[in-house]
Amino acid sequence: MKTTIHIDRKQVISSIDDRLYSSFIEHMGRAVYTGIYEPDHPRADPQGFRGDVEDHIKELRLSHIRYPGGNFLSGYRWEDGVGDPATRPVRRELAWFALEPNWVGINEFVGYCRRNGIEPMIGVNLGTRGPQEAADLLEYCNVKGGTRLSDLRCSHGYEDPHGIKLWCLGNEMDGPWQICAKTAEEYGRTACETAKMMKWMDPEIELVACGSSFKSMPTYGSWERTVLSHCWEHIDYLSLHQYYQNLDGDMPNYLASNRDMDAFIKEVASICAEEKARRGSDHDVKLSFDEWNAWYHFQKENREPEKWIVARPIEEEAYNFADALMVGSLLTTLINNSDTVKIACLAQLVNVIAPIMTRPGGESWLQTIYYPFYHASRYGRGTALQSHVVCSGYSCALGDDIPTVDCAAVLSKDEKELTLFLVNKDLENAAECEVGLSGLRSLSRAEHTEYRGPLDYVNLPGQKSLKPQRTADPGFLGEKISFTLRPASWNVVRLI
Ligand code: AHR
Repeated sequence: MKTTIHIDRKQVISSIDDRLYSSFIEHMGRAVYTGIYEPDHPRADPQGFRGDVEDHIKELRLSHIRYPGGNFLSGYRWEDGVGDPATRPVRRELAWFALEPNWVGINEFVGYCRRNGIEPMIGVNLGTRGPQEAADLLEYCNVKGGTRLSDLRCSHGYEDPHGIKLWCLGNEMDGPWQICAKTAEEYGRTACETAKMMKWMDPEIELVACGSSFKSMPTYGSWERTVLSHCWEHIDYLSLHQYYQNLDGDMPNYLASNRDMDAFIKEVASICAEEKARRGSDHDVKLSFDEWNAWYHFQKENREPEKWIVARPIEEEAYNFADALMVGSLLTTLINNSDTVKIACLAQLVNVIAPIMTRPGGESWLQTIYYPFYHASRYGRGTALQSHVVCSGYSCALGDDIPTVDCAAVLSKDEKELTLFLVNKDLENAAECEVGLSGLRSLSRAEHTEYRGPLDYVNLPGQKSLKPQRTADPGFLGEKISFTLRPASWNVVRLI
């Protein structure tokens, strides 16, 4: 099948915010305990965090990690997680029915991020708690000293303020599963008053308000409008969350999931544009897609691990290669919407719906979905250019004209490299690709890395891992380059 793509240096989507390559760690399952933190592990660092996991995380070059939840956030008392670990309380954690020992709290987490060159994105509890506790946490974290809570932080051994810039006003507050869920009116008012207090406490911060928990929520749309009508001037981002599933094994439809993500982003962006116009405001509210991934395998297994234990092993998805392709397509969609999406968090990072897995006391390994994210985070920084793709299409439940080839094009910050991220969703046919370039004369050499394998292949410890491979360099003729996208493949073509 012939595919033509045209890329013009002048046709810019946006500069890409580095925060597009962020992730998420929640006090959920084994994400924290026996995930990132395991003091008895042979590779534990002096702070008790697993060095093998840190090595995998560092490779991903994450911008931010969202923490501490998720649904966990809505019942969390941040004070439980500071001070002498020996005196921290153990509690029943009502979002995930586990025991929370509070061995890791805000100080340990911020230290972990900073040691790894990552910024924390911290949530405040707007479920069981409210504006005062949110402002208190901010005072504890960001005020230099000389106040009760900043002095408390100093007394805990953290003299320097944490300087946390990015904060989430609660999590999924529209969801009936949420601890102390709210109506849009209730949340909009609380989020507005919390935002005011937090920005008075520290005007340097940026705030993310909760959008709908997912696109098919019955209040989707009206929730966003109501929340924005209350908070507009006080917030900087509105959140989107979405997980994609392949429960019925309809592969073409599953691989078209990014069509759904694209529509979701564009709809929420137009609701923001509508509110801006209604107010005649100069202020902008951009999008934070702070939970996205594939998530359905654990649900299919129908397991119910024992409750009320520390590190209850839930939602440990074993991702296959089809999931990696789907995740790759979602990444092209995020890049192609980087004019409105400024923050995006692959949810989550370790053990829970995660690219990185661990065994307690044992090895760690990389799931299939690790690799497309690794590529995008490494080579997808700079300026997103429009890619005009002409290719074959197919029909499925999500639409009649799903392109078989997805493409995102990123010109590096120094303008010395152009990287194309490409997915061929055709399960049987290769795509013979010809790319025409305009205004990119300095590029003269190309490298092609391909990731493909059996769609049901799962990377497991002790077995051969499916990894991306370099293929023969594509032909580069003047301003044209050609290469083949093999069936069901993720591809990274770098022009240098
Ligand atoms: O990421 C797992 C969970 O999914 C989060 O706790 C919640 O925000 C979402 O529903």
